[in-house]
Amino acid sequence: MNPMLEAALGLADQLRWASRLHLPEMPSGERVLVTGMGGSGISGDIAGLLAGEAGRLALVHKSYGLPGWAARERPLVVAVSYSGNTEETLSAVAAAQELQLPMVAISTGGKLAEIARTAGAPHVEIPSGLQPRAALGYLAGAVSMVLEAAGVLPDQVGGLQEAASVLDSLFGKDGQGPGAELAEDLAEGLVGRVPVIYGGPGGSGVAALRWKTQFNENSKRAAYASWLPELDHNELVGWASIPELTRRVIGIVELRDSAEHPRVAKRFELTRQIAGADVAFVGTVWAQGETTWAKLASLIGIGDLVSLFVAAQAGVDPLPVAPIEMLKQRLAEE
Ligand code: F6R
Repeated sequence: MNPMLEAALGLADQLRWASRLHLPEMPSGERVLVTGMGGSGISGDIAGLLAGEAGRLALVHKSYGLPGWAARERPLVVAVSYSGNTEETLSAVAAAQELQLPMVAISTGGKLAEIARTAGAPHVEIPSGLQPRAALGYLAGAVSMVLEAAGVLPDQVGGLQEAASVLDSLFGKDGQGPGAELAEDLAEGLVGRVPVIYGGPGGSGVAALRWKTQFNENSKRAAYASWLPELDHNELVGWASIPELTRRVIGIVELRDSAEHPRVAKRFELTRQIAGADVAFVGTVWAQGETTWAKLASLIGIGDLVSLFVAAQAGVDPLPVAPIEMLKQRLAEE
C-alpha cells in the first residue's frame, strides 16, 4: 500500500495514541497561542476551535516572532513542528523565550526538542518517520491533550476515541468502507479539475483548510478553500464572468455539519443553486459523529483519501513535496 494511504488510514490509530498520552503537569495560561506551520500548524486551528467551544481562547500563529498582544496577554505558547526545525516556529519560540512566556513543545525531535530541554519546558515526543501532514492525528491529538493537562480544555479522551471509532466505521480496517467509496466518487468528480472547498463556521471550516492543503501537497494541485457565510458576500459573484472556463475546471466540495446554523444551511443550498450553474461539479460531504473531534476527523479522513485518489488518477506520487524542500534549502543558503 502507498505509504501516504497507509498513514491516512492510520488517522484513527494516531488519535487513539494521543488519547492514551500520560502527560506531566503542564504550565497553564489564561490564553493560548499555538505556533506552527503547514501540516503542523493546522493543529493550532483545531485547538482554536476546541478552545472556543469550551469558552476559552486559543489562537494559531503561522509566522515569525509573536503577535504584538503576546507581551501583554502572556499566553501559554504551544510550539508544534513535526521536524522540530521549521524556522518560523523556532523564531516564535525564541520570541516567547525572550518574553519568558510559559511554553510547551511538540515535535519528533529537532532543534525544538533541544530548546525545550535546555529551557526545562515540557516536550511531547511524536512518533517519527512520517510526512508532517500525515501525522495530523498525533500532532493535533497531542495539542489537545496538552491543553487538557494545562486546564484549558475539558476531557479530550472521549472525543478522540469517538473520532477513532467513526473513522473505523468509515474506512474499515483495509480502507474499503463507505467513506472510501464516497472519496472515490468525489475524486472522480475532481478529475482534471481545481478543487474549491466550501466549509462553514466551526469544524467544517477547519476541515476545508485541511482539504485544500492536502490537495496542494498530496495531489500537487492548485486548490482553494472558502467559508460560508463570508463567501456569499464576495466569492459568489466571482463565478459568473468566465463560465466557459469555470464550467470546465472548477469542482466545488461542500463540507457540511447537520448542526450548522440554520441560516448557514440555507446559504449552502442557495449558494449551490447560484454558483453550481457555473462550475463543473459540486459534491457534498457530511460530518459524522457527535463530538467536535469525530466530526472533524470524519471530514478530514475523507478529504485525505480524496486527495490521494486524485493523485493516483493523475499518476502523481503523493509523498514528496519537492518545491517545499527546495524553498527551505534555498532559504537556508541565504
Ligand atoms: C509536509 C508538510 C509541511 C510541513 C511544514 C512545516 O508534509 O505538511 O506543510 O508541515 O513545512 O514543517 P514541520 O511540520 O516539520 O514544522
